Amino acid sequence: MINTNGPSLLRLGVIMTLAGVISLSVVFFWFSPSNKCPPPVFKSHQYSQISSAKSNSSPSVEAEEKPILLLWVWPENYRNLQWDLSNLPPSPRPPFQRWIWLHLESPTNTKKIPGLENLFNLTLSYRQDADIPVRMRLTTRKKPNEDFVIPKKDKLVCWIVSNNDPSTGVDTRNVFYREFSKYIQVTLFGKAYSRFLGYDEYYPTLASCKFYLSFENSIHKDYITEKLNGPLAAGTVPVVLGPPRRNYENFVPAESFIHVNDFPDAKSLAEYLLHLDKDEDAYRKYFNWRKHLTPSPHLILQTQEFILAICTACDHVARHREYKEAHDLYDWYFN
Ligand SMILES: *[C@@H]1O[C@H](CO)[C@@H](O)[C@H](O)[C@H]1NC(C)=O
Repeated sequence: MINTNGPSLLRLGVIMTLAGVISLSVVFFWFSPSNKCPPPVFKSHQYSQISSAKSNSSPSVEAEEKPILLLWVWPENYRNLQWDLSNLPPSPRPPFQRWIWLHLESPTNTKKIPGLENLFNLTLSYRQDADIPVRMRLTTRKKPNEDFVIPKKDKLVCWIVSNNDPSTGVDTRNVFYREFSKYIQVTLFGKAYSRFLGYDEYYPTLASCKFYLSFENSIHKDYITEKLNGPLAAGTVPVVLGPPRRNYENFVPAESFIHVNDFPDAKSLAEYLLHLDKDEDAYRKYFNWRKHLTPSPHLILQTQEFILAICTACDHVARHREYKEAHDLYDWYFN
C-alpha cells in the first residue's frame, strides 16, 4: 500500500519526477506570476546574512546579471523524462548550459532511466549532500516569543493517508501502525480511508489533534518530508517514523517530536502518548522550541507542489556560479 500522508494526500499515487532544469547565464526569468515563491524560503537567516553582506561590502558595484533558469518540464506527471529520452532538449547542447536534475522522491520510489547517468551538472534533492538541497526549515526568531498558545485539541492521534500501494515501500509503517492502533485511538483521514480533506481543512485538522503520525513512506537518510513540517507548523506534536532520531535532529529540535524508535515497541509508545494526554505540563514541553524558532506552513495545493524546489533552484543559481562536475548520478543517488 502507498501511504502518502501529509500534503501528499493532494496528489494521486507516487509521482516519479524527473525534471530537467536548464540554467543559462543571462537574465533572471520567472515563469508564472501566479506561482509566487513562498516567502519563507527567502527569509532564512542564511539568506539575510548573504544579502546584507553583499550590499554592505559593495554598495556601488553594479547589479550582476542574473541567470536564466528554464524549467524544461513541469514535474507533475508520473514521470517527466521519457524512457527513451526522446523529450530531452534537442542536440547540440550549448556548451555553457548547466542542467539540474530535479528529483524529490526517495530512492525506493525512483526508477533508473538508462542514459541519465552523466547528463546533469547539478542535483536538486531532499538530500543534504545534493548541490541544491530542498526542504522547509525552521527560522530563528530575533526576539523570544513567549505567547505561543497550543491550539484547541479534540482528537488524540491523527493520520492522513492518501494512498496505499505496497510498491512504494510503505510496509514498515503499515506494520507499525497495525500494532500501534491496537492500543490507542487513531483518527484517520485521507483518500485511503474515504475521508478526504479539502486543502483548507489540512492545517485546521492537524491543529485539532494532539499528535500526528509523521510516517514516511520509505526510510532513507534525510528523507524527512512535509509530513513533519505540517504538524510542526500547525501546533501539533509529530510522532515520526523514518530515518534515525539524530537525522531529524539535524533539522528540528530534539524535543519537538517523538520518534517511534524511542520506544521498545508500539505498545509502549501508545502508553506514553496516553500518559501525555493526561499530563498537560509534560505535553506542553514539546512546544518550548517555539520560543526561539518559527515553523512555516508549506504550500499544499497540488499546483504548488514543486514551487519550493524551483524557487530554491533559482536562488541557488543566482548565488553560486561554481558547480561540481556530475559523474554517475545513480551511483550517487542509490549508493
Ligand atoms: C555539464 O555536464 C555535461 C555532462 O557531464 C558536460 O558535458 C558539460 O560540459 C557540463 N556543462 C558545463 C557547463 O560544464
